[in-house]
Amino acid sequence: MLRDVQPADLPTLFAFENDPTWCAMAMVKSRSEDEFRAAWANIFDGWESGTTDVIQKVILVDGELCGTIGCHRLNSRHVVGYGLGKAYWGRRIASRALGLLLAEVPIRPLHATTAATNAASIRVLTKHGFAIEKTRIAPETRRCLAREEMILVLA
Ligand SMILES: CC(C)(COP(=O)(O)OP(=O)(O)OC[C@H]1O[C@@H](n2cnc3c(N)ncnc32)[C@H](O)[C@@H]1OP(=O)(O)O)[C@@H](O)C(=O)NCCC(=O)NCCS
Repeated sequence: MLRDVQPADLPTLFAFENDPTWCAMAMVKSRSEDEFRAAWANIFDGWESGTTDVIQKVILVDGELCGTIGCHRLNSRHVVGYGLGKAYWGRRIASRALGLLLAEVPIRPLHATTAATNAASIRVLTKHGFAIEKTRIAPETRRCLAREEMILVLA
């Protein structure tokens, strides 16, 4: 099941992403716990004041926190993103979580950007009807490494 992220979830979520294998798969840079908490403080403030349309859920399996999934606006597009703790990979949890999110969030089109090397993530998306819109060489950003990336869209 999915539920809104709560402040008490943050230590577990930070531990999930603060793993070199996790970062390598997503081709993102690691960030400090302060940067991580500052990003989440913005989201919680936005929820409290009603000034953000960020949707961010934790993924629970039998009550156990396995990862996060969500959707936010980036420029004029709505983009979906997700990540699980490494111990939970390979159990089709991301596939199921994306199905739940798509049932809950009617916004279309929805976009997703993934490193072209992230075959599991591409598969999670295409199983739910996302189609590859384009592949591009993306420069390094504050969060991502320079990488070949795929932009997918669910119309
Ligand atoms: C990417 C990630 C979310 C996948 O989660 P998951 O729960 O392991 O994925 P699932 O088990 O639901 O599905 C993975 C699918 O990809 C397939 N897959 C897994 N590894 C693969 C690989 N190396 N090559 C091709 N397909 C692969 C699986 O077989 C499955 O497809 P199937 O159901 O048709 O058999 C998880 O590995 C993760 O959190 N990685 C780190 C963060 C990240 O990369 N986030 C995404 C950023 S875009």
